[in-house]
Amino acid sequence: MTLAASLTGAGVERLALSRFTTLGVGGEAEVWTVGDHAQLSEAMSAPYRILGGGSNLVISDAGLSERVIRLGGAFASTDLTAGPESNPERFVSGWVGGGVPLPGLLRKLRTLGFSGLEGTVGVPAQVGGAVWMNAGTRFGEMFDGLYQLEIATPEGVRQLSPSELPWGYRDSAIPRNHIVTRVRLALKRSTPQAVSAKMEEADSARKGQPKMKTPGCAFKNPGGVSAGRLIDEAGLKGCQIGQAMISPQHANFIVNLGGASAEEVHALLTLIRQRVGVKLELEYELWP
Ligand code: FAD
Ligand code: EPU
Repeated sequence: MTLAASLTGAGVERLALSRFTTLGVGGEAEVWTVGDHAQLSEAMSAPYRILGGGSNLVISDAGLSERVIRLGGAFASTDLTAGPESNPERFVSGWVGGGVPLPGLLRKLRTLGFSGLEGTVGVPAQVGGAVWMNAGTRFGEMFDGLYQLEIATPEGVRQLSPSELPWGYRDSAIPRNHIVTRVRLALKRSTPQAVSAKMEEADSARKGQPKMKTPGCAFKNPGGVSAGRLIDEAGLKGCQIGQAMISPQHANFIVNLGGASAEEVHALLTLIRQRVGVKLELEYELWP
């Protein structure tokens, strides 16, 4: 359903969020699709949440009262021309939008032979969401390929160098609801073959992950120990509540067998926390 037009021409529609999440769960909200800073600023003038690739979210079946902002237009375009800071060893890109899907970007970098982000292969995020939580694997993370960030905040837009922030395991210290609108990348000039080999190595660590509707790993690894192993050792693989199930393949993945509700996922998370004897920190977000 299309709602009244925004003053700046942002797309405003009431939509089911399940279509935007990899879990396939989520009720309705007012979705603002913005293509430039004027539209983004208008969208940020009332309570909002920023949605990326929806690959780390469990959204309530009742939907959300806040606006949900999606990045389109200029924030979903990719400029891979070499910036003036490039040299024979290093490629520094133009601006890459926060709304650009990461998998497609990585395919382009592989073709061009630019190395640095191979460790993020298989992360089904948008660039902005992946930067916000410094997504990655033991083979590398988003921080490894960043040169400059542009962030929209309620106080205005600022550009900064990644070295101005502390970065950690699944953490960037960018405050919640500060929006990564664009980034510039700094990558090593390599060859398509070498980049491809590194991606294959990182991707091979995913062989045990389920190819089903899921928001990825439920919990961060506590102190470097695999949360999946701990949940597995607690005997919870295959445990099912309604249509939500702890994957029999990898115990840190909750999968939607078809028609699962957010409540069913929450119930499995509670069960895991009760049964695993180690304090587990949630990796994905529960909205609200
Ligand atoms: P969303 O899920 O849309 O949002 C997550 C958070 O990011 C929210 O707080 C949201 O507000 C915020 N956000 C989104 N976009 C922006 C933006 N532009 N600016 C500021 N904040 C923003 N993660 C890993 O780290 N490593 C993995 O190996 C990995 N494997 C996965 C495999 C599968 C099959 C799946 C489904 C997920 C996996 N994940 C992995 C989890 C997920 O992909 C990451 O957490 C990713 O960073 C989420 O990005 P997103 O764009 O989908 O964000
Ligand atoms: N294991 C089990 N049982 C399970 C799952 C795992 O015994 O059910 C064991 C494995 O056999 C292995 C060890 O635990 O010996 C580690 O497992 P795996 O290699 O699958 O890695 P992980 O630590 O469980 C991490 C990331 C993933 C990332 C993979 C591959 C976290 C929370 N998880 O998983 O990231 O894709 O490595 O690089 O850091 C995500 O963050 O959403 C995510 C999927």
